Amino acid sequence: MASQPERAGLQLGLFMPNCSNMYAISTYRTEPDEWPYESNKKIALAAEEAGLHFLFPVSRWRGFGGKTNYLGTSLETMTWASALLAVTQKIHVYSTVHIPVFHPLVAAKMGASLDHIGNGRWGINIVSGWSKEEFGMMGIELLPHRERYQRTTAFIEILKGLWTTEPGTFNHDSPWYHIENGYVMPQPVHKPHPPIANAGISEEAKDLVARLCDVAFIGPPSIEGTIDLTREFKERARQYGRTVRCAGYPFVLWRDSEKEAQDECRRIVGHMDTVAVENWARGLNIGSGSFDQFTLEMFTLGAGALPVVGTAEQVALKLKRLYDLGMDGVLMVFLSYHEDTVRFGKEIMPLLRQLAVVA
Ligand SMILES: Cc1cc2nc3c(=O)[nH]c(=O)nc-3n(C[C@H](O)[C@H](O)[C@H](O)COP(=O)(O)O)c2cc1C
Repeated sequence: MASQPERAGLQLGLFMPNCSNMYAISTYRTEPDEWPYESNKKIALAAEEAGLHFLFPVSRWRGFGGKTNYLGTSLETMTWASALLAVTQKIHVYSTVHIPVFHPLVAAKMGASLDHIGNGRWGINIVSGWSKEEFGMMGIELLPHRERYQRTTAFIEILKGLWTTEPGTFNHDSPWYHIENGYVMPQPVHKPHPPIANAGISEEAKDLVARLCDVAFIGPPSIEGTIDLTREFKERARQYGRTVRCAGYPFVLWRDSEKEAQDECRRIVGHMDTVAVENWARGLNIGSGSFDQFTLEMFTLGAGALPVVGTAEQVALKLKRLYDLGMDGVLMVFLSYHEDTVRFGKEIMPLLRQLAVVA
């Protein structure tokens, strides 16, 4: 894969702490929570300085209970992206949109505005939604899994239609939406439209991504398990005459020795917030089964992030391995976001350049 001359280097992103306790479903912490905006801004600027390519949030409306009330305090991701796009220059920023709570025309309008604020640096991650507690508190019933993705398909078709056809001419009719002479001005800066991602891995999600999305955000259960997923996503897209890029989310932690790094990981998992992790796992698997292979321990690190742990050299080699197995990008989860972003720029980036994984 890496030898394909046309393939871009690994796109490095941060799975940002716009939500509390983002790094782990654990009570172990090394510093105050980094969810506040000022911390996010500091991390975003450090990420840009370190040469990272994109920032990515989590969209949540309430927490998952337990001692940490995991992800219970969070910055909404459209407004969050707006602020970060305004203070950065180069780095790309995603928002994550829950289909059940946004009208597609409103999302298209907000997205076009964000893309203008960032001069073509914004992207959208579209998620179908799965938490009964979140949508229940709004009086919104979750659709059965298959229908969720049918509505997501309609949502993306509308976004694309509004962003790429003559304003005032787009029409759509489906069981979920009715758009008549849809009008969104300005249209986005990024042509034909900002990158559209989905973060599902079920059959329905795979088909949706192959037909309509640019990026698949996926959570394989192991580094070596990556190849099956990336191959499948890319092959399905090929069948529709399209290409998709795949990105995963590793939990990246490195210390001077492998033992120190593994010990730190063990401390995080050892302080698992059992109630929150069980709530998370139960909610996520309802109607989906996409995470059946995950244990509670696996969910503890970054809610199912792939452990990429060791010395700096080992971490660089594991990131290269992910790239070689078909991952085009990574959304990294860090224990200490600001400090680790600065360290990443100094200690891991040079190794990735030597390995020709990044330009
Ligand atoms: C990288 C990544 C990011 C995700 N972000 C969110 C999110 O912000 N909000 C959310 O409700 N679900 C999020 N999800 C969950 C997915 O949308 C989806 O529900 C889950 O992967 C199960 O997929 P399935 O519906 O295809 O079974 C994310 C998943 C991944 C892998």
